[in-house]
Amino acid sequence: MAAVCGGYAKHSKLGVRAAFIIRFAAKPNSTWPSLKFHPIVRKMKSIQTPLLAYVVASATLLFSAATAQAQEIKGDAKAGQGKASLCIGCHGIQGYQASFPEIYKVPKISGQGGKYIIAALNAYKKGDRKHPTMRGISETLSDQDMADLAAYYEVHGRVEGTSLPAQPAKTPAPAVVALLQKGACVSCHGNNFAMPIDPTYPKIAGQYNDYLFVALKAYKVEGNAKVGRANGIMGGIAKQFTNAELKAMAGYISTVDGDLKTVPQSRFR
Ligand code: HEC
Ligand code: HEC
Repeated sequence: MAAVCGGYAKHSKLGVRAAFIIRFAAKPNSTWPSLKFHPIVRKMKSIQTPLLAYVVASATLLFSAATAQAQEIKGDAKAGQGKASLCIGCHGIQGYQASFPEIYKVPKISGQGGKYIIAALNAYKKGDRKHPTMRGISETLSDQDMADLAAYYEVHGRVEGTSLPAQPAKTPAPAVVALLQKGACVSCHGNNFAMPIDPTYPKIAGQYNDYLFVALKAYKVEGNAKVGRANGIMGGIAKQFTNAELKAMAGYISTVDGDLKTVPQSRFR
């Protein structure tokens, strides 16, 4: 997925460049009709077709190269298990707490969707997510490392033959129902908060209460070098709520049954 993102990014950058060239070439004919017969324009017109063909051909070539590259990166859970020795000191200890920017439990990542794990790691690596420790760690990870770790954590702690109810067993207080409706949370995270509509979106049911609150608040922070999450989707949503409201929603979501776990692991296996 990391590579898919990279591929799209490369492609969209190219798209912008291609669009610019096409518009430049097309402009004299469409929006500057009076220049139509200027010698330069006539010259441009004659190069327009081969130029366009070149742009389209190279865009197609580059895009298929990027897609081929993306397909090559396949996560290997076994390799991920070895690489997870970097992670278990925090994510493999029940109740382990982070102390920055406040004290809260290190999130459960076992059972989280693999594509979301990769998206989150890339968000730290790119700096969209500012948390300093996770930024430092993600900067050491290659696309292959991320894919392997994601393949490992996605199924880590999964108990075969169990499935979650489609709706949460516990109904929230009416005030929380209203908040969840205002933010349309289930429309993306799923009716039970554990079936996101897109695999790059997180499962949030049963995540630690204090972590959910810290994460939600982080989407509201702007212009801070060490705290905050720049995300086009959650930024707009979190900013509609007060911290007390975010806390109320986090409290409820943390009580919903989900796939997420902290699986205690020894460093010395
Ligand atoms: C020093 C402790 C520490 C280590 C080591 C660590 N993490 Fe984290 N991790 C955290 C903390 C704290 C957060 C929450 C950061 C935040 O608030 O955004 C986090 C967040 C994450 C998230 C985002 C979770 C979510 O629900 O969005 C992922 C994914 C993650 N870590 C994966 C890893 C992986 C994979 C490794 C090993 C390569 C690792 N972490 C190593 C402390 C750690
Ligand atoms: C339009 C889709 C959408 C809606 C609606 C939505 N979310 Fe999200 N949510 C996302 C995406 C995408 C992310 C991942 C953002 C990122 O990469 O940081 C996310 C991330 C989160 C996280 C961070 C999870 C973690 O593990 O760090 C929490 C908590 C969350 N959403 C709660 C909510 C709540 C509560 C609501 C309703 C008030 C809501 N979301 C509405 C798409 C949505």
